[in-house]
Amino acid sequence: MYIAVMGYGTVGSGVVEVFLKNHDSIIKKCGQSQLDLKYILDLRDFPNDPNKDKFTKDFNDILNDDEVKIVVETMGGLHPAFEFVSSLLKAGKSVVTSNKELVAAKGYELLSIADENNVNFLFEASVGGGIPIIRPISQCLAANEIDEIAGILNGTTNFILTMMIEKNMSFDDALKLAQENGYAEKDPTADIEGHDACRKICILASLCFGKHVYPESVHTEGITKVTLSDVAYVNNLGGVIKLIGRAKRLGNGKISAVVSPCVVMASSQLANVSDVFNAILVRGDAIGDVVFYGRGAGKLPTASAVVADVIDCAKHTNRKKIFGWGPSEDDYVVDYRELDTALFVRATADDIEKAKKAVKKVFGTVKFVSRDNQPENEFAFVTDNEKEKELIAKLDSISEIKPCSVIRVSDY
Ligand code: HSE
Repeated sequence: MYIAVMGYGTVGSGVVEVFLKNHDSIIKKCGQSQLDLKYILDLRDFPNDPNKDKFTKDFNDILNDDEVKIVVETMGGLHPAFEFVSSLLKAGKSVVTSNKELVAAKGYELLSIADENNVNFLFEASVGGGIPIIRPISQCLAANEIDEIAGILNGTTNFILTMMIEKNMSFDDALKLAQENGYAEKDPTADIEGHDACRKICILASLCFGKHVYPESVHTEGITKVTLSDVAYVNNLGGVIKLIGRAKRLGNGKISAVVSPCVVMASSQLANVSDVFNAILVRGDAIGDVVFYGRGAGKLPTASAVVADVIDCAKHTNRKKIFGWGPSEDDYVVDYRELDTALFVRATADDIEKAKKAVKKVFGTVKFVSRDNQPENEFAFVTDNEKEKELIAKLDSISEIKPCSVIRVSDY
């Protein structure tokens, strides 16, 4: 039996490296007498690569080769990944992918095609890099009704925020470092604007709650507006700012799902998750809280998850694993403004004392926060928990202040 790898970038080359390095033990774990790499698909030339005889630029070489039973898709992006993966599944080949954009947008469709063709479509590496999360949710926690999931799902932004918090580093320098380390997406906009975390929470929410959650239905904010000044206030409050993706089962058959920077208090299990590490908290009705922690990005950690899926496919040749979710429905994800939250607000005002009085009058109890080198015309506070749209309406009604940052306070 043979495998093929489509896309020889950071993750694809890592997959080939891990697969060849640990080949003997992989074969044993698969229960196959043979499992070899036959093709690497990439449009670029790699004349000095030790596997140069395996390269092809023609997708049909893989599609039409009956000896290739498992294909790894590490090209990224939606097109042509979607067309390639659907054709491969229809041709009776199992597919393993690390491509969260593909799974978040087309997961239900591809899982259905895999089902119809009695093959597997697996994507452990699409969330949390090397952290086992998809298989634990679908297998080890299968006895539970999952009520909530919340996590630090993007390594690049966690790395950037950690550099800002611990080293007072500028956003741009930290992003450059993350890119040099191979954590960031090809276009880092997907990381810093929260789209990557959004795709991951969509995949997790689909898996946990049973219906496809599309990225367009999830309110998403990135970290580009977080300043070193916000970081300093939140530090004095006893917390840190993290990009959190979260989803919750609501009582009416609907769910909530949001991605945004959040104030995470030091007592939270997510507060000390630094650098490129990810952590995902899953709340089940039998297990309670369980947190999965590890390297959420990078070549070999991600390859580790991809190769594990390859082994799973090889173990399940001609057998379809029962795994996946159903179609979405209209208005499945509720409007985030209807959810309860507390808000951290940093604002400027001409007359700070007058502004604080106005804030107290409108919000009732608030907690004022200070920071070192606080400018004379700036102040910050945290509100009580209330429906977000009510909080924003109250904020808008205070003419004495000009809000600069509004960040949700997490209750995880
Ligand atoms: N760019 C992603 C991240 C890669 O930083 O988490 C792993 O999905």
